[in-house]
Amino acid sequence: MNSPDDERGLDPEDWEALRLVGHRLVDELLHSLRTVREQPAWRPIPESVKQGFRTPAPMQGSSPEAVHREFLETVFPYRLGNIHPRFFARVMGTGTPMGALAEFAAAAMNNNLSGLESSAVHVEAQVLRWLKALLGFPETASGLLTSGCSIANLIALQVARDEYAGVDVNVEGVQASRYRLVAYASDEVHSAVQRALMVLGLGSTALRRVPTGPDFRMRVEDLEDRIDDDVGQGLRPFCIVGSCGTVNTGAIDPLDAMADLAERRKLWFHVDGAFGALAALSPSLRERVRGLERAHSVAFDLHKWGSAPYGVGVVLVRDAEAHHRAFQTEAAYLSPLPRGVAAADYPANELGPELSRGFRGLRIWMAWKEHGVSRLARAIEMNVAQAAHVKQRVEGEAELQLSAPVPLNLVTFRYVGRRRRSPEALDALQAEIVMRVQESGVAVPSTTKLRGRTVIRLAIVNHRSRRADLDALLDAVLREGRALGG
Ligand SMILES: Cc1ncc(COP(=O)(O)O)c(C=O)c1O
Repeated sequence: MNSPDDERGLDPEDWEALRLVGHRLVDELLHSLRTVREQPAWRPIPESVKQGFRTPAPMQGSSPEAVHREFLETVFPYRLGNIHPRFFARVMGTGTPMGALAEFAAAAMNNNLSGLESSAVHVEAQVLRWLKALLGFPETASGLLTSGCSIANLIALQVARDEYAGVDVNVEGVQASRYRLVAYASDEVHSAVQRALMVLGLGSTALRRVPTGPDFRMRVEDLEDRIDDDVGQGLRPFCIVGSCGTVNTGAIDPLDAMADLAERRKLWFHVDGAFGALAALSPSLRERVRGLERAHSVAFDLHKWGSAPYGVGVVLVRDAEAHHRAFQTEAAYLSPLPRGVAAADYPANELGPELSRGFRGLRIWMAWKEHGVSRLARAIEMNVAQAAHVKQRVEGEAELQLSAPVPLNLVTFRYVGRRRRSPEALDALQAEIVMRVQESGVAVPSTTKLRGRTVIRLAIVNHRSRRADLDALLDAVLREGRALGG
């Protein structure tokens, strides 16, 4: 049994039993997706279930039926809930049924995307070509599908850093640079950009946070002064980061003006468009993200507003050679050959820090072929219209107060009630309302802080949501607010 001569491998002993379990699972999951609206948006995990996740590794196997049952009883019911139409927390994409099937297909192929000749690299390259065209990037730009926007930002900023460090960073390291490099972004920039600078060895102080105006967009008029100050202090500005949809309010920095300034000062212009960049897919929304197409690099996600299953993000870099230079290494075992599997003209392993990558492109390729880009664009437009509807309703309710403009698909507001409360009490009230609404299972909003004050925040990137879902959420907020003293 435990002999090394046992050559059974890991395939099922009973293929028929696994086939039946597989079919049942597909049926159950598709049924759940179809009827997800009838289930709670979120439910707390019972302590007994959590205990089950603390058991040691199973040294002996069990039947596929038993594994299937355990998944259905302990894992699936306690999911985060972002497949539910009333989930609006953080910025969480919903996914699609075809995307889920594509995940299964990709896992069955189990294609390594490090760049060997296979259909998968051609699918990924095609998806990247589609994205370049849709975002107004030239076909000659390079790109990579990443695990998300954090890594996409990191890759883009590494390319930028290397172009401005004044030394060959790959050979000598950042410490050999005689420059202290600094980058600029608004004070609403996502922490992923800060973390990228940390990972790149530049430190978080290399991120210069330029103030935003009342619309939470960068005050570009302050940007140039900040750059001049830094130059005066002997620092070397290298990059301006524009936020195309900030995580707090969906604000879109004045990208065109930032691109102008970057051009004039000969700086790298990078755009973090985690969700906002996909507004470019919609002919009626494209104007709102104008300037994005002028960036030297852009990072965005497909697992948010692109409705792809987690995790797939994208980095596009206009200067393909600079992209390649930043990650190139020499390794005989990775060298191409004129024919065979090593003949692929796809140096994915020289465009980012990872060698092995999964087949992320298939979920985009299959889903887009099924629903088409224009249907995805319509879902994006629908979310923007829903955000405008929420804004209007909030403005019409005396107990609610809008906290920021609504330029896209995010709405922030507060329950202010009819009583006078201290700022601290109002902060605590928002958090309490949000927790209660989540625990009720009705809907999942989240919180953030704007100018230091806690607000309720809805990120509407959910193709399953309808206006009635947002109305139900607002009704729940009002109900909980009143229950807490009005
Ligand atoms: C504006 C922005 N940038 C970057 C990120 C990080 O993206 P990811 O979570 O895919 O790594 C997010 C995530 O919400 C975001 O909203």
